[in-house]
Amino acid sequence: MMRTVTLHINGATHMVTADEDTPLLHVLRNTLDLKASRFGCGLEQCGACMVLVDGKPSYACTLSLWQCADTAIETAEGLMAGETPHPLVTAFLGEQAGQCGYCLSGILMSAKALLTHTPTPQRAEIIAALEPHLCRCGAQPRMVQAVERAARAMAGEPA
Ligand code: FES
Ligand code: FES
Repeated sequence: MMRTVTLHINGATHMVTADEDTPLLHVLRNTLDLKASRFGCGLEQCGACMVLVDGKPSYACTLSLWQCADTAIETAEGLMAGETPHPLVTAFLGEQAGQCGYCLSGILMSAKALLTHTPTPQRAEIIAALEPHLCRCGAQPRMVQAVERAARAMAGEPA
C-alpha cells in the first residue's frame, strides 16, 4: 500500500511516498540519494546496510519504510555533516582501517552506537559490537584499533 511517511535522517526531515513495505535501504539510496549505506546480502547477514534507528544499530535492508515513521535515523553521511568529521572517521583514516571500504559505513554506525553507550569500551566489547559485520578484506583488527583510538580522542586523550 502506498503511504507517505515522515523520516528524520541525520537531523533533516523528509516526506517519502512509497509502498509502505519498501526497505529503508532502498529509500535511502534510491529516493534520497544517501548512498553511504550499502546493499550486501539483503538478509541481515553482512551489516553493510547498518544504520541507527533511535540510536540502535538496525539493518536497513529489512526494515520497512513504515517501521521508520517518525524515528530518528542516522547514516554514515551524518558523521561528516559537522564542521569537522566525527572522531570515528578521523580514527579510521588514521589507522588505515579500511581497504575496499564496502563494509565501512555500516561498521562506523555500530561503532558510534557503542561509543555512545560505552565511551571507554573494552576490546572484547568492540569486537562484540562489530560482530554482525562481515569484512572480506580482513581489516577487522585495524578497525578495532580505530574504535579504541576514537574512544581516546573523544575522552580528550592523545591518539
Ligand atoms: S545488506 Fe543488510 S545485512 Fe547485508
Ligand atoms: S574494507 Fe573491504 S569489505 Fe571491509
